[in-house]
Amino acid sequence: MTDASTKKLDFALSLYPDPVLRKPAVPVETFDADLRATVAGMFERMRASQGVGLAAPQVGLQLRVLVLNPTGEPQDDLALINVSIIERSGPLTLFEEGCLSFPGIYAEVKRPERCTVSYRDLEGNSVEREFEGFASRIVQHEYDHLEGVLLVDRMSPADKARHRAALASLVDRYKTRAAQKSPK
Ligand code: CO
Repeated sequence: MTDASTKKLDFALSLYPDPVLRKPAVPVETFDADLRATVAGMFERMRASQGVGLAAPQVGLQLRVLVLNPTGEPQDDLALINVSIIERSGPLTLFEEGCLSFPGIYAEVKRPERCTVSYRDLEGNSVEREFEGFASRIVQHEYDHLEGVLLVDRMSPADKARHRAALASLVDRYKTRAAQKSPK
């Protein structure tokens, strides 16, 4: 089947330090087949990259859209459109995070255990929901992306020092690719 309802966009990952990762994301205005295709493509990219969450800026789109799946079970796919975190609560916990835009880099990040978000679903319905544990961790990490905040901003100075060479090599790789795209 190739009708609009099953269309998926094919996305490449935007890697650090691609400037799109720093641009604030803007709300979705139209809940249509294009949005469904975008979200389907994001889930596809997330799975192909063995991720548990993905934010639109990571596929080059300045949209307030994030997808997650904390369990790997298809029925747990969740797309949050125009999401805002309205409350964070519970104890601060340390947990090791990775990020598809920082391949091979992991760092412990401190975040509150729970968060409550309001968002729109794919049909545009308004939803409020509380997350805890791993799902809350993913939501808060992906939400950072919508604000232009990255793993490198959240890591401790010690982790940043430990990952200095890996971060520098991502910067080199980005510069090399950017130079190949615009040869002047
Ligand atoms: Co990330």
